[in-house]
Amino acid sequence: MPRFDQLPAYNKLKAHHHKIKHIKMRELFDEDPDRFNQFSLIFDDILLDYSKNRITKQTMQKLFQLAKESKIEMWRDRMFNGEKINFTENRAVLHTALRNQSKKKIFVDNQDVMPKINAVLDKMTSFSRKVRRGHWLGYTGKPITDVVNIGIGGSDLGPQMVCRALYPYQHPRMKFHFISNVDGADIDRNLCNLNPETTLFIISSKSFTTLETISNAQSARHWFIKETQREQDIDKHFVAISSNMEAIKAFGIDPQNMFEFWDWVGGRYSIWSAIGLSLMLSIGPSHYMDFLRGAFLMDKHFENAPLEQNMPVIMALIGIWYTNFFKSDSQAILPYDHYLRTLTQYLQQTDMESNGKKVNRWGERIHYQTGSIIWGASGINGQHAFFQLLHQGTKLIPADFIVSLQTHCIYQEQHHMMVASTLGQTETLMCGRTLKETIKEMQASNLTPDEIEKLAPHRVLEGNHPTNTLLINKINPKTLGMLIALYEHKIFVQGIIWNINSFDQWGVELGKKITGKVMQNIRSNTPATIHDASTNALINYYKKITGDY
Ligand code: F6P
Repeated sequence: MPRFDQLPAYNKLKAHHHKIKHIKMRELFDEDPDRFNQFSLIFDDILLDYSKNRITKQTMQKLFQLAKESKIEMWRDRMFNGEKINFTENRAVLHTALRNQSKKKIFVDNQDVMPKINAVLDKMTSFSRKVRRGHWLGYTGKPITDVVNIGIGGSDLGPQMVCRALYPYQHPRMKFHFISNVDGADIDRNLCNLNPETTLFIISSKSFTTLETISNAQSARHWFIKETQREQDIDKHFVAISSNMEAIKAFGIDPQNMFEFWDWVGGRYSIWSAIGLSLMLSIGPSHYMDFLRGAFLMDKHFENAPLEQNMPVIMALIGIWYTNFFKSDSQAILPYDHYLRTLTQYLQQTDMESNGKKVNRWGERIHYQTGSIIWGASGINGQHAFFQLLHQGTKLIPADFIVSLQTHCIYQEQHHMMVASTLGQTETLMCGRTLKETIKEMQASNLTPDEIEKLAPHRVLEGNHPTNTLLINKINPKTLGMLIALYEHKIFVQGIIWNINSFDQWGVELGKKITGKVMQNIRSNTPATIHDASTNALINYYKKITGDY
């Protein structure tokens, strides 16, 4: 199988890039009044406008050819059918099965996984109903008012992001808290405001060995026992979500209070599994099913739409165009919706943990760029912080602007302003302001010719900065499900084109092991000697200053 940079389409794109790299989007719009229609797509409640990109019809044709030569469709089908495409861990990749709302059976090791998935969903549903209706009682007989999810990575970012995003659907009696940092300040700040009588802890960890989560879970347990003197009532206040039943038992949580998921669900794709329990508790089972349905709709679109009208495929190809041909290093994701304010952090893990790889499927070192640096924040706040660099900096940073058209809140005028800001920014990024326009504006403000000459170059915005705009009718459980699945599939397509395994994360494993060794050194009474000289010295300095061990 030829590698990405040996494919005929790659070479065609390289030559094409050479030809059109200085193309101006403004001119493309002037030349073709139909450009928006050509380069935009509506699927259900999401509109993708990708016309503000440095692309022509020929670019897209060549990119679609690249997708075909990379055998995207074959790999997509292999994933959906439960083949073990995560070959470095010998695992299937089946987060899509968790939201499969068809009657289709899905097999892993000759066993249909759907009955297991549905059984856990049923268990989550009946548990959530009890808690939400106030029938699940704490040790003094009071209903639960506060839910604390303890996890990290996919076991934290996912539940936290979706609970925030769907806050307008949250149960009025309950509040949701998320603890991930091993820095005791995180748990400390959270616990000091909680009442153990009415608090439910969800310990979320696929492996149930993650140091940060286990440390926080133990601290929560100690706090509960210290505050209540009721170790016998742990079961009323602690549940766990994991694929590791033995570790849960060893921790002291009743297996009855365990919600299972499986090794074929990657941590960063686990929001669709029982890891979504806090979301179900917040928005209720029926909205939760809408969330799964949204993702399922996007799965069907990804499976069935031709590549040329396939939203995740198009977004992936545009990303490849900038990363591998324009050599851009990063991509900004800018949600213009207060409820989506942690979406970028969530997608940072999904994308960077998936596609931050430099060895291909054949074990060879790759010599082209793979996963981008994903960054960003709430767009509105970003405008007043880092957008200056987008507008006038030296880097090419493609950006996704995501905005909801209908708001959940009553401040309609403010919502208009937010939508106006989104569209105003993408227009400014694309059109900029030429020297001629700048001079004209300055003349109109009665500046002297001297001032104009001195200041005009600083006021020019070159523009031509590429953006995608995603307009979402309204952020609700269904559209949120669609949006997350859209990005998941985009990341998948890029991983296939780059010939990498997007589903392992060996890069983060070694650091965990070394942390374990450093921890042993910190605990021991003798100076550290087994590390490099810098690390030994830093450990020993820490021990000297704190004198703790
Ligand atoms: O270290 C990375 C990672 O393994 C992520 O992939 C995962 O989401 C996170 O840690 C948490 O892992 P777990 O759910 O097993 O505690």
